[in-house]
Amino acid sequence: MVDLKQRVSVLGLGYIGLPLSAALANAGYKVIAVDNDSKKIEDLKRGVVYLYEPGLRETLASQKDNIEFITDDKYAIGNSDIIFVAVGTPLKDNLDPDYSQLNSCLKSIGENLRKGQLIFLKSTLFLGTTEFYALPMLEMLSGLKGGEDFYLAFCPERTSEGQVMHEIHVLPKIVAGINKESSDRAVKVMKKLGGQITTVSTPRIAEMCKLLDNLYRATSIAFANEVAEVCEKAGLNAEEVISTVNKGYLRTKIYKHGLGADGPCLTKDPEIYRYSAALYNAKTPLTDGSIEQNKKSTANLISLIKDFSLQNYGTPLNIAVMGPAFKGMPETDDTRYSTAEKIIAGLKLNNVKINSLRAFDPRAETFLGEPVKKSITEAIENANVIMFLTNHPKLMNIDFEHIKDKISNPSLIIDAWGNLNVEKIPEGMKYHRIGHGQPIPKEKDPAVLSYKIMDWRADSEYDSNFKI
Ligand SMILES: NC(=O)c1ccc[n+]([C@@H]2O[C@H](COP(=O)([O-])OP(=O)(O)OC[C@H]3O[C@@H](n4cnc5c(N)ncnc54)[C@H](O)[C@@H]3O)[C@@H](O)[C@H]2O)c1
Repeated sequence: MVDLKQRVSVLGLGYIGLPLSAALANAGYKVIAVDNDSKKIEDLKRGVVYLYEPGLRETLASQKDNIEFITDDKYAIGNSDIIFVAVGTPLKDNLDPDYSQLNSCLKSIGENLRKGQLIFLKSTLFLGTTEFYALPMLEMLSGLKGGEDFYLAFCPERTSEGQVMHEIHVLPKIVAGINKESSDRAVKVMKKLGGQITTVSTPRIAEMCKLLDNLYRATSIAFANEVAEVCEKAGLNAEEVISTVNKGYLRTKIYKHGLGADGPCLTKDPEIYRYSAALYNAKTPLTDGSIEQNKKSTANLISLIKDFSLQNYGTPLNIAVMGPAFKGMPETDDTRYSTAEKIIAGLKLNNVKINSLRAFDPRAETFLGEPVKKSITEAIENANVIMFLTNHPKLMNIDFEHIKDKISNPSLIIDAWGNLNVEKIPEGMKYHRIGHGQPIPKEKDPAVLSYKIMDWRADSEYDSNFKI
């Protein structure tokens, strides 16, 4: 039995820590929820929830007597039996993991640690962090012995923004303590949230499992995008190709092609995996290639926009972004590392002059610090670069006839997800649907040309020593 009188603190109230605090309170714990951003704490105290997550607002409201919001981590640590660390682990400019948020939490926990406390690391970590980084730091600062005086476990967060409050109770959970006692204690707490629990032998296994969750998706996206690029160049419709391969053939499930692996997790976790592998001198050619492919998918769009600007004598661009959030389904208001953010950064880096930037998103309220427009119509007014970048249902099935008169001509329209129903593009407008190659006339088809010049030798004449 778990003792629900135990008090829990959660350090870091972002997209993971805030829903986790709400779920723990809902499970019966008294929660001290801590963030070092005083604006966030003031908001939460006033009942203002600064991030979108279905069900979160309601749970926080119903649990308001069971959650205390504070900035004082020392108080929280001193008054808790269980401490969750859910701060960000972003990348530095050189793409190494940035542990500054984690370091500050570990320092605070180490300096205030008491016997019997259980610490959960929830943030995504590079291999070895729990045992060889966090544990020695906590032991050194506290003078206590991990696994005996205090307990430490890594339990990665696997939920997806937009459905955290549901997934937190149903997704399979991975738990790894630094010793059996730590694992056993961690499992008892995790059971309160629900979902199947797998205890793995070491925290490094759990750290690797978490990285693979996101690496698998990032690599699958890169694969679909490479296929889409080949199809586009070969004059094929990638959608027709991919949907046919997947249809009724359960062994293959190629992802939908489109944009790079965007959003905070798919951008950074392959890099954290690569960093982990390098620590052990292991090579990662497949991951290296997929990171490159995902960057290329974004770079292709940046070049398209740059070319459009140059073809129009450097005309300053009036850009309209439909879908600045990093994904459309499940919907989120999170624009960190979104395709839109990456494209705008890339254009600035390439000295492409942007005259105006307007965005519309059904969920995100701001983009690059500016409020988004209230409607598609408001955002596209007189724009000469119009980008549809997520598959949010409210951005799909848009009738091009209804918007074409509102945008400038000449203009460039980027349709990443097949958002638009297009019958005819007016002269002067350029429409780009990722993965849709234009039919190549037979006389220009490189395959036809190469067949003509191919040396049709008999099989027997092939060099049997041919090497690749
Ligand atoms: N966002 C996701 O969908 C997701 C999914 C799975 C795993 N994760 C992982 O979970 C972790 C948290 O991600 P996130 O998206 O919630 O991050 P986030 O940036 O949204 O939230 C981090 C919060 O921690 C606060 N913070 C920073 N330093 C602090 C400190 N010393 N004390 C108290 N608060 C502090 C920040 O103010 C911020 O509110 C990351 O490691 C991430 O990789 C995220």
